[in-house]
Amino acid sequence: MNDYDTAARWIAVSRKAAAFTGAGISVESGIPTFRGPEGLWSRYDPKVLDLGYFYEHPKECWEVIKEIFYDYMGAKARPNAAHRLLAELEKRGKLQGVITQNIDNLHQEAGSRNVVEFHGTAQTLLCTECGDRTPFTEHDLSQLPPRCKKCGGLLKPDFIFFGEGIPPQAYRDSMALAEEADLLLVIGTTGEVMPASMIPFEAKQARVIEINVEPSANTEHRTDLFLQAKATEAAKELAERLGIEL
Ligand code: APR
Repeated sequence: MNDYDTAARWIAVSRKAAAFTGAGISVESGIPTFRGPEGLWSRYDPKVLDLGYFYEHPKECWEVIKEIFYDYMGAKARPNAAHRLLAELEKRGKLQGVITQNIDNLHQEAGSRNVVEFHGTAQTLLCTECGDRTPFTEHDLSQLPPRCKKCGGLLKPDFIFFGEGIPPQAYRDSMALAEEADLLLVIGTTGEVMPASMIPFEAKQARVIEINVEPSANTEHRTDLFLQAKATEAAKELAERLGIEL
């Protein structure tokens, strides 16, 4: 009986499992993490996602935002085995939902239905004047910054920037999923960014299975079973034991 056998058994006996994911689950879909030596913030200045700086320098910020979040992330990235495992567990009634810090829409593209986007999404653009929301696909991102077709206002991606609050409905839905969970799959997050990092601790009744290539802030303080592996590798090991074809 190894750790994957134990993890598969915990999933099998759980009644109200949920998942909490970070950038690490999408690395094998070609989307870099934010932190770490290969992370986005080692190549780009995070000030482009500072709301105050964005309002002062919308064109400069949008050029970087487009490169990071639309040229590859919005166009070419595809869900991987880890995204598909969570979607399949939900389809089989084993997973209540996914709370994600990611804005890449890959959980939904894998077939997950109940996805709570704690940090919002890149799929829609928000008018900073009239509040209108439109799919990014309706805008020509070769003309930057994009403008609202209704009022001409400056558009921003519909995900939270540094200095912005968590979308209230997403916050409530995340806390409800966490508080009710008897098992929480924590995949690919450093657990360093507040308030998202509170979620594993809000899941007070849950056993926590963590999947990460290296220990995180959760590993010592919250995790019950640590599977040190790439998300897709761990997903395949679990799927095999749960009789799931990925
Ligand atoms: N499989 C599993 N985990 C991985 C993999 C992989 N293939 N590759 C990297 N990881 C792990 C790293 O070890 C790290 O713990 O994924 C984590 C990525 O960390 P971050 O880049 O900090 O991402 P995350 O924790 O999701 O960041 C939270 O910070 O910048 C903000 O809003 C942004 O949502 C983001 C938030």
